[in-house]
Amino acid sequence: MKKIFIEETITRIGEEVELYGWAETIRDHKKVVFVDLRDSTGIVQIVGGPQLSEISSEDVVRVTGVIKSRPDNLINDKIPTGKIEIELKDFTIISKSNSLPLPIDTDGYEVDEEVRHNYRYLDLRRKRMLKNLRTRSEVITFMRDFLTKRRFIEIETPILTKTSPEGARDFIVPSRLQRGKFYALPQSPQQYKQLLMVAGIERYFQIARCFRDEDPRADRAYGEFTQLDIEMSFVTQEDILELTEQLFTELIKKVFPHKKIKESPWPRISHKETIEKYKSDRPDLRKNKEDKDELAFAWIVDFPLFTEQSQEDFYHGMGKSKYAPSHHMFTAPRQEDIPLLDKDPGKVRGLQHDLVLNGFEVGGGSIRIHDPKIQEKVFTLIGFTQEQKDRFSDLLEAFTYGVPPHGGIAPGLDRFLMVILGEPSIREIVAFPASSSGKTAVMHAPSTVEKEQLEELGINIHEGK
Ligand code: AMO
Repeated sequence: MKKIFIEETITRIGEEVELYGWAETIRDHKKVVFVDLRDSTGIVQIVGGPQLSEISSEDVVRVTGVIKSRPDNLINDKIPTGKIEIELKDFTIISKSNSLPLPIDTDGYEVDEEVRHNYRYLDLRRKRMLKNLRTRSEVITFMRDFLTKRRFIEIETPILTKTSPEGARDFIVPSRLQRGKFYALPQSPQQYKQLLMVAGIERYFQIARCFRDEDPRADRAYGEFTQLDIEMSFVTQEDILELTEQLFTELIKKVFPHKKIKESPWPRISHKETIEKYKSDRPDLRKNKEDKDELAFAWIVDFPLFTEQSQEDFYHGMGKSKYAPSHHMFTAPRQEDIPLLDKDPGKVRGLQHDLVLNGFEVGGGSIRIHDPKIQEKVFTLIGFTQEQKDRFSDLLEAFTYGVPPHGGIAPGLDRFLMVILGEPSIREIVAFPASSSGKTAVMHAPSTVEKEQLEELGINIHEGK
């Protein structure tokens, strides 16, 4: 007898098989009882005698039985296994389930989000959530495959690291071995990927977790999110745009074949034009905004290198100055605008590129500065003190040992999936998301720690401000 997944049942009519899963619904007709058995691949109907009524909804069971074709008038077109059913031989209840604290046979939008997060392991049993997780996995698999075939190397970079300002607050982690010092969780692997270019990797990617302490929105996760982080040496901006465009075009063909890309090659719009014409730096260029299968990609280019600095920028790691980087402080100015760095910094255009899809910014990147003198100049323009500059001395030193010109991009995986799957929030794309107040699903972090742990770290908690 063969142990199989439910999706395989349709190819094994007549065989006796062993199945494992959850009892989704039980229909008790006294002499005959029907159980819909669910595993990660589908649902199948089990038919047996009154003994099956011992099973209750969401119990975990083992079932053995023979796969039979259903008579024509009992075929269920709504499920892939609707032409067959399992004639029960034997079953065991492996684990009983209490009645669930939330419904899982709906799409779940109607259920209070806190309840869904508290019981995320149940919430993920619903069909829509399983599909989202499966699609996420298919997308990542495609990206890995696409890039490794083109000589990219996947490299993991540290999570315990030093501050890497990307415009948000850092999460910091106290060091036990060096009391009074702190690691920061990376807002992105930006400096590491640049160091990897100095190391001669030439083509790097990572499915990278990024950590940012910033106010959440529907399209912005609190705490952590994932990027497809890419960096390349000896490339022009054109090379980066072409590679990204090809990656997403082929990805959509393979994983989302019913979706239609509105315009190829994707339109390129200067920052000035998008602000003038659409009053937005992430315009929604769809013809018909009701059509859920239309994908309007666009590149926004020719950003000014600097924007006016806000109070927020200052708090998030910039120096005191009129200017803050429009993308980040490692973005290169256009070659012909370099003289303007001294004369009129506000007029310098940067080699930044933003990827926009249906009105969302789904990616950002740039050609980087690789000349330590220009990097130093940008640090000065954003108001860095010597101490702040010193924090980046390792990167600048690396640039003194033969640095290739380089650049890259980081599409946001969660945000891209949210848009393409038509989900209202990024939390629908993540297995265990944090709530908008920063509480993590199921585990309820953050939490207090033992007094001894704090003592070991030399930390005193002050109540109030
Ligand atoms: P940037 O900060 O623009 O660039 O981020 C790139 C992309 O990541 C996604 N993103 C987010 N997704 C979910 N929740 C968030 N809080 C969040 N923040 C950003 C967006 C965004 O376009 N190191 C640079 C990339 C580079 O220059 O190569 C960076 O991180 O889709």
